Amino acid sequence: MSLERNKPGIAIYPGSFDPVTNGHLDLIGRGAMIFDRLVVAVTHNLEKDPLFAVSERVEMLEAVTFDWKNVEVEVFDGLLVEYARAKGASVILRGIRAVSDYEYELQMAMMNRKIEPEIETVFMLPAEAYSFVSSRLVKELARLGGPVKGFVPALVEERLRAKVS
Ligand code: PNS
Repeated sequence: MSLERNKPGIAIYPGSFDPVTNGHLDLIGRGAMIFDRLVVAVTHNLEKDPLFAVSERVEMLEAVTFDWKNVEVEVFDGLLVEYARAKGASVILRGIRAVSDYEYELQMAMMNRKIEPEIETVFMLPAEAYSFVSSRLVKELARLGGPVKGFVPALVEERLRAKVS
């Protein structure tokens, strides 16, 4: 490892964002404070069967991140580290809510480091209030008619309601 490290100017915050939750937003806010530019990167090729099309996920993210001038939303395909390198990013930002997230995140971070040692994965913790919020559970709640208020932005709440009705 060289002693002359790049300052972490650009960070990529990748994910499925199906849909964006208040936990994601909390992390975006924290990332936007630390990095010069934060690129929220929505994966195109989901193995999971998404509820929202990638264009809908991007549209919602753009709307709810509008106030952060150093945050942009993009779609990426293929290998995350290749995308990050092409963007000139030196950091991949990921959130860890609980110990249960750790194993998967560790594997991904190590694999990404193996492929591209120059890109560092940085983990951040969302606010405690969001430590149990996930897109998966929010979708389940919405499908079963449960309350999603407070877990997702109001716009997403509306879109969820329209999608499952
Ligand atoms: O929100 P998610 O579903 O936890 O995000 C997972 C994501 C998109 C970050 C991960 O699946 C990913 O990086 N996909 C891109 C393909 C890739 O680079 N795979 C190798 C990971 S080690």
